[in-house]
Amino acid sequence: MSPSVLRCSEAGCGTEVPRDYRGYSCPVCGNLLQAVPNPGRLSAEELKQLWRERRTSNALLDTSGVWRFREYLPECQADEVVTLAEGNIPLLAGIKTAVYAGARDLWFKHLGWNPTGSFKDLGMTVAVTEARRQGAEIVACASTGNTAASMAAYASRANLRARVYLPKGGASMQKLAQALDFGAEPHYVDGNFDDALRVLMAETDAGIYFLNSINPFRIEGQKTAIFHLMDQLDWRPPDYIVLPGGNLGNSAAFGKAIEELAAAGLMNPVPRLVIVQARGSNALVRTVESGGSELQVVTDPQTMATAIRIGNPRSWKKAIRALRFTGGIVMDVDDDEIMAAKQVLGRDGIGSEPASATTLAGIRHLIADGRINPEARIVAFLTGHALKDTDSILKAAGRSDAA
Ligand code: F0G
Repeated sequence: MSPSVLRCSEAGCGTEVPRDYRGYSCPVCGNLLQAVPNPGRLSAEELKQLWRERRTSNALLDTSGVWRFREYLPECQADEVVTLAEGNIPLLAGIKTAVYAGARDLWFKHLGWNPTGSFKDLGMTVAVTEARRQGAEIVACASTGNTAASMAAYASRANLRARVYLPKGGASMQKLAQALDFGAEPHYVDGNFDDALRVLMAETDAGIYFLNSINPFRIEGQKTAIFHLMDQLDWRPPDYIVLPGGNLGNSAAFGKAIEELAAAGLMNPVPRLVIVQARGSNALVRTVESGGSELQVVTDPQTMATAIRIGNPRSWKKAIRALRFTGGIVMDVDDDEIMAAKQVLGRDGIGSEPASATTLAGIRHLIADGRINPEARIVAFLTGHALKDTDSILKAAGRSDAA
């Protein structure tokens, strides 16, 4: 039941624009926009009860683990919603992974178990719904693959054309195949994700609706991962929430969720957010180390975790706000650590694509360094399914010849 406005995310600016404003950034100061929720008058206890009751309902919106929390989402009619019943993800106890990390209370929320195999589905259900509501005919994104696949699936359901800008050779074959299967129109860009995003943003066709995570509606959908987690934890916050960082849209979304839940009396105490980057693509780490006021772009980002091979993350300011609000930590891990952690996830029966395994690698470091107490309650988010990047598995097993 949100009002129809977007507001500048920069606290000192606060400029408001209408919901269908297509500029994506504040017309006054240029910072990213964000949606303003208006959850109504229900108390924290009433919201908890309502959301829990909806778990047993078969009404379309209630069967989505995103739309179940619609009090905090942009208002729309039930028959306008484009959903694939996303978001209903279990919480898994880490077993071998916990031993590996030296953690006694480690949990995984695997957002790669969503309909298209990545966390992007949580954002796309809201953002594609909004695209159709606003009368768009073409939706577009730059992507290392997961955003492309997810956008294409939801766009097809909504009868919209999906144009995807992919770094040539920079997305796994599985992600590319998935996007094509869902009917995407691919544009290959020489360069990396940052170049693809630049090419996309230069598109001037007014009929195109942009669906990268600069789109505030995507952030709204992605933030419900934290609402869902809290419901699963019976509203007892963990000590740490850990996630990978690439373009930093998800870090922004999780930070926004934590702020909103804390303000509603639904998140007390506030968990610390831990953002883990790949060392060769660690713009946020460098930015925080240099004081946090100016983005330290990585001009030639490198990592085997192609999903997060990004050097110029657009949501860096929102991510810094999330770190400040939660007393969070940003860190990086190298490719060997990522691949070792990925293998342990596989042996724990969970599996993930390389980018997700940064979380386990990061936790292991933080416990070994004494920065996280081994007794701490830790929830790590995994973001992409193991089958999203089978090359990395075959290579690690020395079996690329078998493929
Ligand atoms: N994990 C996976 C599996 C991803 O695909 C991404 C981003 C991230 C983590 C990082 O999330 O950008 O919100 O910090 N993938 C984008 C894509 C860039 O195009 O699919 P972020």
